[in-house]
Amino acid sequence: MPERIALIGAGVIGKRHLKAMAKVESVELVAIADPLSGAAEIATEHGVPHYPGANEMLGEVAPSGVIIATPTEHHFQPALASLDAGCHLLIEKPIAATVAEAEEIARVSEARGLCVLVGHHRRYYPQVAKAREIVRGGSLGQLVTVSGQWSVRKPESYYTPDWRRRSPAGPVLTNLIHEIDYLRHVVGEIRSVTGLTGNSVQGFEKEDAAAFAFQFENGSLGAFVMSDQADSPWAWEMATGENPAFPRNGQNCITFSGTRGALEFPNLRHWTSDGEPASWITPKAARDISLELGDAFVRQIKHFAEVVAGRANPVISAADATGTLGVTLAVLESARCGNRIDICGPERIN
Ligand SMILES: NC(=O)c1ccc[n+]([C@@H]2O[C@H](COP(=O)([O-])OP(=O)(O)OC[C@H]3O[C@@H](n4cnc5c(N)ncnc54)[C@H](O)[C@@H]3O)[C@@H](O)[C@H]2O)c1
Repeated sequence: MPERIALIGAGVIGKRHLKAMAKVESVELVAIADPLSGAAEIATEHGVPHYPGANEMLGEVAPSGVIIATPTEHHFQPALASLDAGCHLLIEKPIAATVAEAEEIARVSEARGLCVLVGHHRRYYPQVAKAREIVRGGSLGQLVTVSGQWSVRKPESYYTPDWRRRSPAGPVLTNLIHEIDYLRHVVGEIRSVTGLTGNSVQGFEKEDAAAFAFQFENGSLGAFVMSDQADSPWAWEMATGENPAFPRNGQNCITFSGTRGALEFPNLRHWTSDGEPASWITPKAARDISLELGDAFVRQIKHFAEVVAGRANPVISAADATGTLGVTLAVLESARCGNRIDICGPERIN
């Protein structure tokens, strides 16, 4: 029997989950909850009942799993209501708006014996798994540095809604959180962060550029720059073409460098001294590692079905995602207070 799954929040990413669910036999969509009138039409298209509110839906439909795809500041209430109703959760990233909310979601789910999977979907790409294998497996020797960039120019129309000009909708919390999540997954826990933000292009409350330096627990150091107003080819979306809305360019935007080689990411290019002693005078050879991208959202839904069925533990748990949220918020906090922030939460990534 397929797992009975309800969707709360049928906006941009909620519709992406619906598309993925339609391709996965081990789940069955049973209801959609969203106050927008357009959501009723979406529910009709999918042949399921529509509810304006999550509580009403949870009481009547009793799903086994719920996908929460509401705006980030509205994750907390439907998450707790769904846990109260005995449902396992797939919550979109960031897990919540604050670390305190995220910790409460983790606490309640544990107390009730329910699972929380967080939608850091990039971890389902084989390129991320391969990078983790290369970096953690020692193929680069001892990892020394990580550099990265995510620089795009979002169109003027994107900022028409006022909320998109405010800090919680800035590119650090909206976009950089993806990069921080896979960096933690590939390299390991981040121990400290020093950040800078600027808004010299648009002058909105939210940042339009950010730079940060970070130290991993394994001793390697990193530097990252990002902007939602810089028209560059260096960003994950264009590198991979995961979303057809962004034309793929095949560029790489992250580098991992170790004592015995380097890796460009996400279109994996592995540089070594080709069997010679590693040195700056040794010619470097590059090997391209070609892997199919596939559909991470389909893989995520398949995994969620296994979690709901009790056959798998979430690959991105609430505690893990709270770690990613904590580091991301630390970038903003460091920029605000002008100090390095040491990350000392209980969250650890394995
Ligand atoms: N994984 C990714 O790559 C990715 C991409 C985009 C967005 N997201 C995340 O997904 C979440 C939603 O983003 P979005 O771009 O889809 O937003 P959106 O505004 O397009 O959609 C949100 C929907 O939630 C509904 N909603 C609001 N409050 C609700 C409530 N209390 N109960 C039920 N429905 C409610 C809204 O009516 C709207 O239809 C955010 O947390 C965002 O960070 C993740």
